[in-house]
Amino acid sequence: MEIKSLYEEYKQYFNVGTCVGVPHFNGNNTETELIKKHFNLLVAENCTKMMYIYRGLNDFNWKEGDDFVRFCQENNKLIRWHNFVWHAQTAPWIFLKEGVPVNMKDFFQNNINPADYASKELIEKRLQHYIQTVCDRYKGKIYSYDVVNECISDKLFALRTREDHSLWQEVMGPDYVSKAFLWAREADPDAELVINDYNLETIPQKRQAMFDFVKEQKSKGIPIDTIGLQMHINIFDSVPFIEETIEMFGKLGVNVIVTEMEISLYRFEEKEKKIIDADLLKVQADKYYECFEVFRRQAQKGILKDVVLWGVQDNHSWKNDFPVPGRGDAPLLFDKDGKPKPCFNAIVK
Ligand code: G3I
Repeated sequence: MEIKSLYEEYKQYFNVGTCVGVPHFNGNNTETELIKKHFNLLVAENCTKMMYIYRGLNDFNWKEGDDFVRFCQENNKLIRWHNFVWHAQTAPWIFLKEGVPVNMKDFFQNNINPADYASKELIEKRLQHYIQTVCDRYKGKIYSYDVVNECISDKLFALRTREDHSLWQEVMGPDYVSKAFLWAREADPDAELVINDYNLETIPQKRQAMFDFVKEQKSKGIPIDTIGLQMHINIFDSVPFIEETIEMFGKLGVNVIVTEMEISLYRFEEKEKKIIDADLLKVQADKYYECFEVFRRQAQKGILKDVVLWGVQDNHSWKNDFPVPGRGDAPLLFDKDGKPKPCFNAIVK
């Protein structure tokens, strides 16, 4: 029997997207076909991150970004750009004085000597130039940008600091977020600008911190259009809490989108490998169903606009190696052979 298209199923309510890896848009495999059929909104899983593109002030590597955008356009897909400002997969040279060699090991171990930082003015110039140059290249093609990604600390419930592996506040001060949004709006006035983070839909203090932060930014006229809920959740997470979060953020006068969803079979702290049987997959299917019902309701209320999954087939999910390397997981809608799982059948009737 012909399988129905996921995005067609929900198109009167919201767009349905997925992240894609380079082999999916530069090749043709089962997963490429699934992407074309089931999703109308795409985001690159890695290749549009700063570390892959911004090699130097006048040294941009466009190859995979261009391939990704071309694939989306040829297949009539909306495009999300992930991302401009993040503490991970960044371009370490951007923080350093000219001539200071980039030592990736030191960078990842948070061992950069503050004496090696470039001036605030130079770092701002480099960041603005990055945002401007990306927008100049793709303006009119990008539907939505993640301008700032994961800026709220899980420990402080405030902007991340160097202790949370982010140098942005340390080198530019706390208004780096406002500046990035203002530069992005100026560079591409028609696209949606998103502040994106994880655990907003599961940890009350983090949710409150994001609410307070966006409220303050909006009161200063900073152009944040949308809050992105990553939704890297698991089968034990509370669906009513997720719905409450969407409604709470909606009260700020912003849209809400789901940006990176999957449903893990494991609690974060669980280490033992499970037997993945029909009962477990049924629990996951019920959770997907409940979430998509929430999305439908919140879309009907005009708050939720898009739902993006973080991958297509289980065997390509980042969760196979996180938080337990090599353990495996099965958090997505399709199995390793590209066959729809019970969770797919629960949301596409
Ligand atoms: O490119 C190298 C390759 O040359 C090398 O051989 C290989 C060996 O490990 O590593 C490759 O880099 C990996 C990269 O993905 C590209 O495949 C990195 O090790 C790996 O850490 C990186 O993981 C990505 C992760 O972001 C990095 O933080 C995941 O694929 C990607 O799914 C994940 O996505 C993030 C979102 O951007 C933000 N929100 C959380 C989400 C999940 O962590």
